[in-house]
Amino acid sequence: MTAIIPAAGKGTRFLPATRVIPKEMLPIGAKPAIHCIVEEAIAAGVDDVVVIISEEKEIIRRYFEGDPELASRIRFVYQKEQKGLGHAVLQAAGDVKGPVLILLGDALVSGPNPSVEMVAVSKANGGASVIGMEQVPQEKVSRYGIIAVEGSVPTAGGSARIVDLVEKPSVEDAPSNLAIAGRYLLDGEIFALLSTQQPGHGGEIQLTDAIRRLLERKPVYGYVYPGKRQDIGNPAGYFTALEAFNGNC
Ligand code: UTP
Repeated sequence: MTAIIPAAGKGTRFLPATRVIPKEMLPIGAKPAIHCIVEEAIAAGVDDVVVIISEEKEIIRRYFEGDPELASRIRFVYQKEQKGLGHAVLQAAGDVKGPVLILLGDALVSGPNPSVEMVAVSKANGGASVIGMEQVPQEKVSRYGIIAVEGSVPTAGGSARIVDLVEKPSVEDAPSNLAIAGRYLLDGEIFALLSTQQPGHGGEIQLTDAIRRLLERKPVYGYVYPGKRQDIGNPAGYFTALEAFNGNC
């Protein structure tokens, strides 16, 4: 299995620090966040890792070159224009066959290793795709991509088959309080779908839009983290992440 870590985004929510420091390089204790994410993927059985960067974010490549053992498992692919998460993932298409584990470079998950758990959920369901989910307060559902599931809504540590994805629903219309949260284990068909994906929200090629099409063809499950997703892409989220990991990822 191959992992893709998209880390080519502009990081505007964390300016001015991100003028020179990629958010993915912010330290959680002594390690940059992206180092923690690479270790998470390797613990889940990933053989090689593709990190998507831009020319402005070469420092990420230089960081891993300082660790030859890790570097031997990592390839760097450049996203020349920041056209969205789906577009970033698509840049790795030529390098990846079969299922792919996508870990957002600005998202950590405290608690049990989410990638390990998602691989187990996939195996238990005949190799199906699995999306990591977090429970969000009902009154905040309209900020997230929310899923609708078959049967009852799973609780922490549980999983269920996804029947629909609803982008930023109103509180009344939300089919659950489970939000898409930074980790995806997807069937290799996602690349074909991304290659024909039209720009969506914000004029960007959205991974969520391609997953909605994948749902029509293949089973996709949602796995609910027992822990919490930490978004280090903004100062408040980074502060909370430091507290959650207690200085050590
Ligand atoms: P975000 O939407 O959080 O990243 O993407 P962003 O665009 O950098 O953030 P803001 O809104 O400007 O602050 C989640 C992950 O996907 C990567 C980002 O680097 C981040 O790790 N990404 C996003 C790309 O690699 N390319 C893109 O075009 C967009």
